[in-house]
Amino acid sequence: MNYTIAVIPGDGIGPDIVEQAKLVLDKIGEKYGHTFDYTEVLAGGAAIDAVGEPLPEATIKVCKESDSVLLGAVGGPKWDHLGGDQRPEKALLGLRSALGLFANIRPATMFKQLRDACPLKEEIIGDDGLDLVVVRELTGGIYFGKRGRDHGPNGEEAYDTMMYSVDEVKRIAKVAFDIAMKRNKKVTSIDKANVLENSRLWRAVVEEVAKDYKEVTVEHLYVDNGAMQLVINPKQFDVILTGNMFGDILSDEASMITGSIGMLPSASLGESKLGMYEPIHGSAPDIAGMDKANPIATITSLAMMLRYSFDLEEEALAIEKAVEEVLEDGYRTGDIMSKGMTLVGTKEMGRLIVGKL
Ligand code: NAD
Ligand code: IPM
Ligand code: MN
Repeated sequence: MNYTIAVIPGDGIGPDIVEQAKLVLDKIGEKYGHTFDYTEVLAGGAAIDAVGEPLPEATIKVCKESDSVLLGAVGGPKWDHLGGDQRPEKALLGLRSALGLFANIRPATMFKQLRDACPLKEEIIGDDGLDLVVVRELTGGIYFGKRGRDHGPNGEEAYDTMMYSVDEVKRIAKVAFDIAMKRNKKVTSIDKANVLENSRLWRAVVEEVAKDYKEVTVEHLYVDNGAMQLVINPKQFDVILTGNMFGDILSDEASMITGSIGMLPSASLGESKLGMYEPIHGSAPDIAGMDKANPIATITSLAMMLRYSFDLEEEALAIEKAVEEVLEDGYRTGDIMSKGMTLVGTKEMGRLIVGKL
């Protein structure tokens, strides 16, 4: 088969990790007889520098016309002085919205080889590591509510509103319950219903949706407790269902349990097969261009692309197995390095994974 992929390297370590991911996908194509056609497009700081805006119309068009989108990361200190809509991050938010990608799937799965990179004690993490999924609502909540700056009686003020509609909660809750049905049949919905009105609506809708999934156990946690539970007892979780901002924060936290933020892939999905695939981490300006970035999250994001957008399960598993084998051989980038292992750079890690395929 022939698949078209819009590729957004972006900023910072984005180009470094995307380069390795493409080599992995090329190898998959060669081995399994698929062609992956890449169209590289501009977004984020790179687009600001080239054409003066973070998300050019042409980029949205190419993404919409492609079978899926691969994104590295956007943003960096160079553009931090810019106002809200001019910032690189606006590209990411704009793409999620333009493509209708309301469901962000972030699996926090620990490779058993990375036990030593996990900062939690042995008795907390046990023998079988961590395997949970954060299902994060991605096109609503405080990220997309009414916002602005005013001059009020007390001087300058700024506001961001957090709003969810019943339908928005319903569709993301269904995604979480469907995923739970294929896993350990437990959904933990995380909100702030003791304070926020939209969280009370969220909780009520989740309870309604749960009635259609009798086999699934449902729990509700307040986000402050949820953040704490992730550290003290992460294995109680199967599927975490949460809103846009809480999901952003909790998935970074969960990623560290698996060893590093450089290990966590993501899929952003909507109603169609077109998805956007990206690591959950950012552009890591502190290590950009130094051949230090861990490309694994980007590479396993490709596995998610093959699985969710192209229904190529065997190929997806081949990528995940290749990553595991390289870790088993003891190779580590700096972020997951531990005693007795062999330190490698971004390019070498990519080359090793391709080698296993
Ligand atoms: P970050 O995720 O870029 O970096 C946080 C820390 O993790 C840094 O120490 C970094 O070196 C390390 N890190 C991240 N990815 C790594 C990898 N693959 N390998 C090894 N180490 C890695 O978060 P930040 O510093 O808060 O943000 C930097 C920029 O990225 C900001 O402009 C932010 O807005 C942007 N950002 C973009 C995305 C995205 O494009 N999806 C996501 C998060 C942040
Ligand atoms: C992420 C990032 C983005 C988010 C930013 C860069 C807009 O942190 O993808 O996790 O908050 O969604
Ligand atoms: Mn984030």
